[in-house]
Amino acid sequence: MTVQETPTPPEAAAPGTPRPVKAGVDDTVEVRMTVNGTPTVLDLPARVTLSDALRDHLGLTGTHVGCEHGVCGMCTVLINGEAARACLLFAVQLDGADVVTVEGLGRPDDLHPLQEAFGRNHALQCGFCTPGFLMSSYDLLANKPEVTEEELPEELSGVICRCTGYRNILTAVGETHRAHPDGLPAPGNCGHRALVGRSGQGGNAFDGQEDTGDTAASLTVKEIVLPSGDPTIAVEITTEVEQPEDKVWQVFDDVHLLARCLPGAELTDDLGNDHYAGRARVSVGPIKLAFNGLAHIVEHDRAVGRLRVVAQGQDTGGAQTQADITLRTEATETGTAMHADAKVYLTGRIAQFGRALAGDVSRRMFEQFADSVAQAATSGQAPSGPVKAPSAMSLVLAPLLDRVKRLLRWGGRGRGGRG
Ligand code: FES
Ligand code: FES
Repeated sequence: MTVQETPTPPEAAAPGTPRPVKAGVDDTVEVRMTVNGTPTVLDLPARVTLSDALRDHLGLTGTHVGCEHGVCGMCTVLINGEAARACLLFAVQLDGADVVTVEGLGRPDDLHPLQEAFGRNHALQCGFCTPGFLMSSYDLLANKPEVTEEELPEELSGVICRCTGYRNILTAVGETHRAHPDGLPAPGNCGHRALVGRSGQGGNAFDGQEDTGDTAASLTVKEIVLPSGDPTIAVEITTEVEQPEDKVWQVFDDVHLLARCLPGAELTDDLGNDHYAGRARVSVGPIKLAFNGLAHIVEHDRAVGRLRVVAQGQDTGGAQTQADITLRTEATETGTAMHADAKVYLTGRIAQFGRALAGDVSRRMFEQFADSVAQAATSGQAPSGPVKAPSAMSLVLAPLLDRVKRLLRWGGRGRGGRG
């Protein structure tokens, strides 16, 4: 059976990386893994299992946990290309390993053939066993392409479906096998994403090079690498600011003032070379996220009216966000048109917001940002107190208020016309 075997833990960390011989119960150990194509660094207590590290520290909750005894197969992931039970491995055993979870198999807009087949054949009911079955069947078809249809039930018996949907699962796997006689396509969502935020629970990007002593600093001031795929959300907003362009640029020139205009954001450190550390808070209903992250001003050109910032952040629950934001200004008859063009990449539990809600949050934040820039351009000062991130209630009320404002404007024009 394919998934019952636990692979030998990979080779120890790179030469020169100090490894504790023994770790106390409260000590954390640095673990470097490549997860779904992304190099990550985690500081974890030695007792944390791989399944908990993936779910609680990287926000990859697609790996389900059932028995935590190696029986049910829900937690199956690929380690160095072979299926393994994530609940039976400690994360510290995986230093240097290449891990693929169900999130790495396909993208929502470009599913892996196995995922397509599961959907087409109704091979999931509650979906609890589905990640385990997908990863287990991927491992089977990729590593044992000569498997016959008759062998599938036994080969896949290492994963338990509580909804007893085995027949459709076997049909989906068999169909995928027949459709790809020359080999199964590789996991399709393993592009490089940089993660940041060294904390007791966070993950960091690393470039595979040995640290030179000041580990925290060398990991913090590094180039932000944006994912190569399509963004989760793309926002384009144009706002009219009733201030001349040079007043708006006085705000853009002052990074601290600019940061105060961003809803929920706070600048915590100037790291030099146009890199900044900061915090941002977002709350939507019961979901409250506090990101620590980095921002890099990659372009600041007043002459052409263009400011571009790339940023990335991670919250302690593993939600990650990266953004590529370009602000352009243009003088108008009444002031300045400010165009914001943002590409936002979300992973972890923040992605559960769904594109529509996350898009609304982002849009509302940019509108608040534009209002704050207008205030700061007028007064030369930051809005009093940090600008609050939009709440769930404000997201619901905002479209209604906009509608009322529009109606009042039209009503005003009507009365003026009659008068
Ligand atoms: S949770 Fe790992 S095998 Fe059941
Ligand atoms: S679909 Fe519900 S446990 Fe398998």
